[in-house]
Amino acid sequence: MRHTELLLTILVLMFTRTSETCTSRFNITAVRGEPFYLRYCSSGSERKDETVAIRWYKGSGPHARTELRSSSSPRISLRDYVLEFWPVELEDSGSYFFQMGNNTHEWKLNVIGKSKHSCFAEKQLISKTVEVQKSLHINCKHSYYEELAHRISLYKNCEKMENNKNPVLQKNAEFEDQGYYTCVFFVPYNGNLFNVTKTFNVTVVGDRSKIIPVLLGPKVNHVKVELGKDVELNCSALANEKDAVYWNVWEENGKEPNVHEENITRTRYVTPDGKLYASRILRIENINEKNLNFSYNCAVASEGGTDTISFVLVKKEDMVDIPGYVFTRGMIVAVLISVVVVCLVVIGVIYRVDLALFYRHFMRKDETLTDGKTYDAFVSYLKECGPENGEEHTFAVEILPRVLEKHFGYKLCIFERDVVPGGAIVDEIHSLIEKSRRLIIVLSKSYMSNEVRYELESGLHEALVERKIKIILIEFTPVSDFTFFPQSLQLLKSHRVLKWNADKPPSYNSRFWKNLLYLMPAKMVKPCGAESEVLPVLSRS
Ligand SMILES: *[C@@H]1O[C@H](CO)[C@@H](O)[C@H](O)[C@H]1NC(C)=O
Ligand SMILES: *[C@@H]1O[C@H](CO)[C@@H](O)[C@H](O)[C@H]1NC(C)=O
Ligand SMILES: *[C@@H]1O[C@H](CO)[C@@H](O)[C@H](O)[C@H]1NC(C)=O
Ligand SMILES: *[C@@H]1O[C@H](CO)[C@@H](O)[C@H](O)[C@H]1NC(C)=O
Ligand SMILES: *[C@@H]1O[C@H](CO)[C@@H](O)[C@H](O)[C@H]1NC(C)=O
Ligand SMILES: *[C@@H]1O[C@H](CO)[C@@H](O)[C@H](O)[C@H]1NC(C)=O
Ligand SMILES: *[C@@H]1O[C@H](CO)[C@@H](O)[C@H](O)[C@H]1NC(C)=O
Repeated sequence: MRHTELLLTILVLMFTRTSETCTSRFNITAVRGEPFYLRYCSSGSERKDETVAIRWYKGSGPHARTELRSSSSPRISLRDYVLEFWPVELEDSGSYFFQMGNNTHEWKLNVIGKSKHSCFAEKQLISKTVEVQKSLHINCKHSYYEELAHRISLYKNCEKMENNKNPVLQKNAEFEDQGYYTCVFFVPYNGNLFNVTKTFNVTVVGDRSKIIPVLLGPKVNHVKVELGKDVELNCSALANEKDAVYWNVWEENGKEPNVHEENITRTRYVTPDGKLYASRILRIENINEKNLNFSYNCAVASEGGTDTISFVLVKKEDMVDIPGYVFTRGMIVAVLISVVVVCLVVIGVIYRVDLALFYRHFMRKDETLTDGKTYDAFVSYLKECGPENGEEHTFAVEILPRVLEKHFGYKLCIFERDVVPGGAIVDEIHSLIEKSRRLIIVLSKSYMSNEVRYELESGLHEALVERKIKIILIEFTPVSDFTFFPQSLQLLKSHRVLKWNADKPPSYNSRFWKNLLYLMPAKMVKPCGAESEVLPVLSRS
């Protein structure tokens, strides 16, 4: 019982093996340098008869054949139905015959070489196409040499893969899995180690489920063009593999000669998520009026439907682009103008007073004619003439009138000179201040005495509350030296404060007098003759 089972198993195995590994095709390709075999496919009924001789022949001419023996070449081995090459070489190409009794079988062997840097022969590939995300399975099986091999390795694009111990690749296909997978079986024979390769050309394709193709972009595209130039219209579609993208560029009277559908730039590419894009370019050269307002249609067609979009060329508005050099010049001019403006502003600030005086003179401006006031300025100063304030007194009573009145034609109100003693002083001062256009305060150490307090207060009232008079402060002593000082006076704008340097009395043309004139009301200077010009340079008296 056991023996019969064993026998059966052996028979089945033998039968399976023979049917699997025999060489039934007529045209056979082998790779040079690798072990190779031919095996006759005996039908099951043919029992091997010891008496029937088996002979192998190789064709050596159109009708001649040479019998092969194991001794005829060290690379050949004959074993019943099998002819083995260890290894096969280019000169082994040709016809081979197997003869057993009246049965003959013929093969045609073509031995090819590998290219220099490749681990496989490109003509000897097993194609495998896998859809992306579907199972990619590569198993290194060989019906004949697997049993004989003592080691098997798997290579991808001729680089050894990590999993070479158990050379099976099983995964979900990604696009980067595409490539050439080579199983190498290392087979020892007669003390030599041979290798047999088996290579799969794996192609990963996108999802093959059909989609309805769509063209990308709006249905109508207006393309701005310039006459005489070229334009390329790019029609792109999300499509299936077999879908065609094409242009309808034919007019009734034939195709425009300057319109070309480009073959080269017809591109297709598959995105990593398996979508296929196809695009086709329409090139229009040397655009003329005929190309305008004409609708160039692009279509994509498939079993699922079609989609069309159109392109219309419109003339670009004659909006002239600013050429680069014009722009540069414009920038330079703008910068120069800015520089000039800034310079003018700076000069204007520095020579503000001179400019204002020149303007007054030039325009013959006189603001004293209509306001009904008598005096141009009321001079407020310390009346007591003591030894420590003699300078200020001299300034207020002598220098100021000499310059402003004699030289520049102003009319000052100097209390000591212009007021007849005896009246009600307070009322008098008030009305004099009201009749004056400016209040000149000559500020010295002892100024803040009771006597001038009223003048000051009255003047400040006029200036700040009624806004009828403007204050000019001439400092003999800096304001900061005073312990009591009206806040409102401290807030006086700095240009209304002039500093008198008693150690270096200024000349007529000096800034001090110019500034003072500037602060005084505009008045037509009456020409006073040569007299004013010989005024002595002011000095300490
Ligand atoms: C074998 O290949 C040759 C060309 O190489 C061809 O003419 C012939 O038809 C092929 N025979 C078979 C059976 O495929
Ligand atoms: C082979 O054929 C010959 C005649 O053509 C015949 O006499 C002979 O018996 C055949 N041999 C076998 C084994 O079939
Ligand atoms: C491998 O398969 C791809 C896709 O079928 C094909 O384009 C390529 O030519 C094949 N490679 C070789 C060497 O035949
Ligand atoms: C296979 O054998 C050949 C020579 O017999 C050798 O040049 C080649 O490198 C071997 N290939 C591999 C993958 O070992
Ligand atoms: C056409 O457009 C598609 C998609 O926008 C792009 O992938 C392709 O590179 C373009 N072709 C050319 C020639 O510009
Ligand atoms: C497109 O292909 C045709 C032939 O297939 C050729 O005559 C023509 O010159 C090609 N056009 C371009 C722009 O390459
Ligand atoms: C194109 O159409 C615009 C208005 O749509 C028209 O003003 C223009 O004259 C047309 N040009 C040509 C060449 O037909």
